[in-house]
Amino acid sequence: MKTLKALAAGALAVLLGGSVAGVLLRPETAAADRRGPDAIVIGHRGASALRPEHTLLSYETAIALGADFIEPDLVSTKDGVLVARHENEISGTTDVAARPEFAPRRATKTIDGVPVTGWFTEDFTLAELRTLRAKERLPDLRSGNTAYDGLALVPTFEEVIRLAQRHGVGVYPETKHPTYFDSIGLSLEEPLLATLAANGWRNARDRVYIQSFETANLRDLRKKTRLPLIQLVSATGAPYDRVAAGDPLTYDQLLTPAGLRDVAGYADGLGVDTRRIVPTGPDGRLLPPTTLIRDAHKARLAVHTWTIRDENSQLPLDHRTGNPASPAYARATGDVTGWLNRLLDLGVDGVFADNPGTARAVLAARSAR
Ligand code: G3P
Ligand code: CA
Repeated sequence: MKTLKALAAGALAVLLGGSVAGVLLRPETAAADRRGPDAIVIGHRGASALRPEHTLLSYETAIALGADFIEPDLVSTKDGVLVARHENEISGTTDVAARPEFAPRRATKTIDGVPVTGWFTEDFTLAELRTLRAKERLPDLRSGNTAYDGLALVPTFEEVIRLAQRHGVGVYPETKHPTYFDSIGLSLEEPLLATLAANGWRNARDRVYIQSFETANLRDLRKKTRLPLIQLVSATGAPYDRVAAGDPLTYDQLLTPAGLRDVAGYADGLGVDTRRIVPTGPDGRLLPPTTLIRDAHKARLAVHTWTIRDENSQLPLDHRTGNPASPAYARATGDVTGWLNRLLDLGVDGVFADNPGTARAVLAARSAR
């Protein structure tokens, strides 16, 4: 039975241009089978355009605005608990730097081959981490979000799952730096599957996608779970696990017909940078689309894309609007609707959106045509 809160959230989604049928009452579908007008909306780090990312406030807002899935990036605490943060270094998204009791824990580490200085989740027990408070990562771009600084904790993956289940939406967790966490004895995959299973999510039809920029941990997960797996693909570069293994495999190679057939052997879909679908030229303008969506569908892989953001400064040049000389230009909402429609017309199966309400409204308008 739906809770009053869920019904209220559905009503809010309707007011904001969503649809109850599309948001909260949609029957469970094999998520990887969705296509075209039924593309899924993934609340990227929650509704990170509107609340500090990866907080329950952000995830609740994403659900209210019509997200089908909420996206926690996952890292580990010292005691092996998965928590939602984009990186294991947390000075940009919590108040840890202002906490004198944790000053001695500031450290420099090499994460995926890059030196990083700050405070790291793996040096804090969950109890210690829960004394911190979340803050906005991009206070200049999203100054309104700073009103919520200091209000929210770093949520556990379990809390995110429970929130999703209360509202009838799915979760779309990403393992962050899996090779690194393996190297320090805090493997992410076992607690990931255990936490999902403990909350009743273990089958292909459950509302879960598991994503990774690496390949080896997805191959390993394929042997252990039937949940849909998503191979993330950057605009350039190579999966870090391959780099660490001395294997020259690049993301470009993953997207060749042979590469896609290989990916289809262990994953159910791709999560790609939008530039893999619509590249940009040297002048920053959009070029004709690639054949990636057609090629991936031929290999029976769904295609989800990231990241859709409303602000001019975060949109391709072709979809920016207004006067570039205006001080408000960078933060102003651009032609995000046109950008979404362009990607949906090309056949994407899902979009990661910092403001899931925008994506939901565009999809609602398309299905009303
Ligand atoms: O996981 C899809 C997208 O979120 C990848 O980018 O850096 O925001 O995790 P990032
Ligand atoms: Ca992510």
